[in-house]
Amino acid sequence: MDVVVRRGDLGARRAGAIAIGVLEGERALTGAARAVDRASRGAISALIRAGDFKGRFLETAVLYPIGAGARRVLLVGLGPKAELTEHRVRMAAGQMARRARDLGAGTLATVVHGAGRGGLDPERAAQVVAEGSVLGHYRFSSYRAERGRPPLRRIELVEFDAAAARRMKPAAERGARWGEAACLARDLASIPGQDLTPEDLGERARQVARATGATARVLAGAQLERLKMGALLGVGRGSANPPRFIVLERAPSSRGQASRTVVVIGKGVTFDTGGISLKPRENMHKMKYDMSGAAAVLGLFSALPTVPHPFRVVGLIPAAENMPGGRALKPGDVVRAMDGTTIEVTNTDAEGRLLLADALGYARRYRPETVIDLATLTGAISIALGHLAAGLFTADDTLAGELAAASEASGERLWRMPLWDEYAAEMRSDTADLVNSAGVREGGAVLAAAFLKRFARELRWAHLDIASTAWSPSDRPHEPRGPTGFGVRLLLEWISRRAGAPGA
Ligand code: BES
Ligand code: MN
Ligand code: ZN
Repeated sequence: MDVVVRRGDLGARRAGAIAIGVLEGERALTGAARAVDRASRGAISALIRAGDFKGRFLETAVLYPIGAGARRVLLVGLGPKAELTEHRVRMAAGQMARRARDLGAGTLATVVHGAGRGGLDPERAAQVVAEGSVLGHYRFSSYRAERGRPPLRRIELVEFDAAAARRMKPAAERGARWGEAACLARDLASIPGQDLTPEDLGERARQVARATGATARVLAGAQLERLKMGALLGVGRGSANPPRFIVLERAPSSRGQASRTVVVIGKGVTFDTGGISLKPRENMHKMKYDMSGAAAVLGLFSALPTVPHPFRVVGLIPAAENMPGGRALKPGDVVRAMDGTTIEVTNTDAEGRLLLADALGYARRYRPETVIDLATLTGAISIALGHLAAGLFTADDTLAGELAAASEASGERLWRMPLWDEYAAEMRSDTADLVNSAGVREGGAVLAAAFLKRFARELRWAHLDIASTAWSPSDRPHEPRGPTGFGVRLLLEWISRRAGAPGA
């Protein structure tokens, strides 16, 4: 689906459907909505006057007026003006695109919602309308015989003012690219484990790198031995599909010192059975999405060309399949991570932190200014936060602030969790330097973060536990049920803002 900006008059546009946004409680239609109302001989104002459409947030209605340029007019409620935010516009756009697709509209013409009467910055509004449209329109159907309604071919954002249309154009392009980047991450997380092994993930990384001017190296076997990545190798041991360590690198787009490196790490467990500490059978099939952190890193790289920035960006993906097997890690086994730390594996299902330990060890060689990891790390984070926010763990208040701002702008919610030193005491081992699982349920997400902190040491580092948000349990306007691509837009937003910040 293409999203394009066109200068013109919405009322005169030919399309399978025209969509207009309606603010709740506004009586008179203005701008493009008024033009469409006129062209359809007052059909919209009649509906609103009758009280049959109130403009409540995410409410929709479809009209088949005679005389308009389009066969259908789709109304989308934006809610009260006082409550309008960029994220609400993003969600309303998602609702609109999906509804138009399900009507079989083929093409859709609309305006940049929120830019006029809504009072939002027109360029930001153009970005979030394009982004939300792509996000809401998404569907994963590669494995279906029955594909349902065909996707929309095109969404036109029609703007009357020529100068405004010119400014909106790059913003809408960026929004669409960011939405597509999240959809790439969703696709990857939806692919069954059989078709996305660590090796396959490496191949995907190569594809993304080739398409976007980055480089990808995929390390395996003896290379991992030489690096002494005993934790990653340990996790991968039980599987017929051996582990990989994927390294993506992209040079700064603007002039910057090569010394300014940002490292993003994504957990890449392509399937998590739990290993010998086998998971219960209920819901185990979902564990194909245990590489959602890795997917977010690939999504980020796929859209990096849209973000001018002065950093060398490095993506690290430790990838393994966590399986039971004759050679698998046994509870009580001790592995040695890349940095020399020994870990007693008290629970083979706490495998993500083992992978991240080696990735953090590898990250040091770049002397990075910031390291962020994303991982579907613990079930406990969902116990704490439900499915509406990911856990943010960092000892650095400035970094926490930067990520909070990116979270607000992207609509991908983060909630800060503690990382006090005392938690580390619970990870002591009788045999090795530490255990990978304390064996208690209380505070599981924090204990996992405390484990990671030991490997991050003095790095400027944040850990995002996305196990709560990487899979949406229900349909939402901008994300259908299933993998969400969480983190892609958050990271893009964070890098854009950091690039624009003073001193960057
Ligand atoms: N991949 C899981 C975490 C997870 C659980 C993600 C549910 C998404 C939904 C992780 O590898 C895991 O198994 N964590 C254990 C840790 C425990 C053994 C200390 C968990 O959360 O139970
Ligand atoms: Mn696990
Ligand atoms: Zn896992």
